[in-house]
Amino acid sequence: MTESASRDGATDVIDILTADHRDMLGLLDQIEGAADPATRRDLADTLIAEVMRHAVAEEMYVYPAIEEHLPNGAEEVEHDKQEHDEIVQLMKQLEDADAAEPRFLEVTRELHANLRHHMADEEADQFPQLRAHIPAEKLVSIGAKVETAKKLAPTRPHPHAPHSELFHKTVGPGVGMIDRLRDKLTGRTTD
Ligand SMILES: [Fe+2]
Ligand SMILES: [Fe+2]
Repeated sequence: MTESASRDGATDVIDILTADHRDMLGLLDQIEGAADPATRRDLADTLIAEVMRHAVAEEMYVYPAIEEHLPNGAEEVEHDKQEHDEIVQLMKQLEDADAAEPRFLEVTRELHANLRHHMADEEADQFPQLRAHIPAEKLVSIGAKVETAKKLAPTRPHPHAPHSELFHKTVGPGVGMIDRLRDKLTGRTTD
């Protein structure tokens, strides 16, 4: 039974981010197990897009909550963002690598290790603390914002641009816009 099933059933931001993490690890296993280069390339491009959406949404809505509510939150976020930057660098290398060359799987394995470490920190330490410090309804509403941000986020790695900047370039200025877009998108999605 998942943890969400033991609460009131509403999906909150932690459920969403944790499910994303599982999806990413699943894609990494598939890439490493894929026999032909074209499949590896497709799966890697899907992974890169998913990680970008997730990382941008975290930086927009989740890391600010960590900063606000967790003891040492600012330091934790600094550390997390540094790890995101390293992950983006690796994804850029993966984007540029030839899926038929051994280098491709080397970069994939390095990315796999970095992501596993980063997710483990978030899940073991930061996410439980968010649940402890933030009311359940607030975590559900942050989850809705994260879902919208993921739909709108850039999907290509840009190692030299901060994610918040990328996001505003893609979406336009003003975080209030996210709420308006979310209202528009609500009911239209199929997932
Ligand atoms: Fe993260
Ligand atoms: Fe994450």
